[in-house]
Amino acid sequence: MSAFSRRTFMLAATAIGAMAVAGATAMAEVPKLKQKEKYKVGFAQTESNNPWRIAQTNSMKETAEKLGYQLVYTDAAGSAAKQVADVNSMIAQGVDLIFLAPREEKPLIPAVMAAKKAGIPVILLDRSVDPKLAKAGNDYLTFIGSDFIKEGQRVAEWLAKNANGKTKIIELEGTTGASPANDRKKGFDEAIKAAGGFEIVASQSGDFARDKGRQVAEALLQAHPDADIVYAHNDEMAIGAISAIEAAGKVPGKDILVLSIDGGKEAVGLVVDGKIGAVVECNPRFGPKAFETMARYAKGEKIEPKLINDDKFYDSSNAKEELAGAY
Ligand code: AHR
Repeated sequence: MSAFSRRTFMLAATAIGAMAVAGATAMAEVPKLKQKEKYKVGFAQTESNNPWRIAQTNSMKETAEKLGYQLVYTDAAGSAAKQVADVNSMIAQGVDLIFLAPREEKPLIPAVMAAKKAGIPVILLDRSVDPKLAKAGNDYLTFIGSDFIKEGQRVAEWLAKNANGKTKIIELEGTTGASPANDRKKGFDEAIKAAGGFEIVASQSGDFARDKGRQVAEALLQAHPDADIVYAHNDEMAIGAISAIEAAGKVPGKDILVLSIDGGKEAVGLVVDGKIGAVVECNPRFGPKAFETMARYAKGEKIEPKLINDDKFYDSSNAKEELAGAY
């Protein structure tokens, strides 16, 4: 077992232990939040290695500043273990509420449980935790984010109508164990199977990162020279795959159809250029909804277990007009 897998295993084991403790003490409710003029709020970000994460962080920081709230911001730099430590540090600093963007579904369970035990409500932003180990309205307040299954389905539905005889798919998955990677795969794979006539010839993680996406695409294109579609779980990997396709002497958008999720300016620009066929937006502008939900909770309103963001869709029919508004 590698050092990384050992650490992930230990975190998951701690998560299950934390569940047992939570079960034993049977704290059934999310901690309350008092109404106050100003709050001290934590935002535990998972990493800052792409425009999507930066847009999300900026939205959170701008909204906190507008409200005059103190924001304790941490960047876990792609490490679930650091993110757990970041949440523990926020608890020690006595924040009123924690916004958490959990890197992976299982390893962040101990952080959710520790905040609950300390009497601090948690709102999950953009990614979720394992629903078997922690529940909205009980262990954390709510999940705010996109419907990742639907995002994968929307890509598959577009592909079924616009494949133009192309059939062999390379799938570049997001970070292993992260909810968008699990759900974007599920949504796409099921819908493409239902559509019929397609084959996923390879599916491998590119960790939501541009260079990893490029490397994985390069290897998979070599192993499957007949592949003519790349479906990437985010823009960064799609852009990496375009470099790999061009390095292999092929033309993205012509020889190989590229599909993506996120909808950042660079990717929407590549739709305009014809290198990407379609992009489903994953809206990163969380600030207003996150802080409004917090205020509603402090007022005593009942909060829905999931608050789903609206996502746009870009292809050649609208990318040019929409480009200026993309993040
Ligand atoms: O959780 C959302 C995903 O995480 C975005 O698609 C990706 O770009 C980010 O890192």
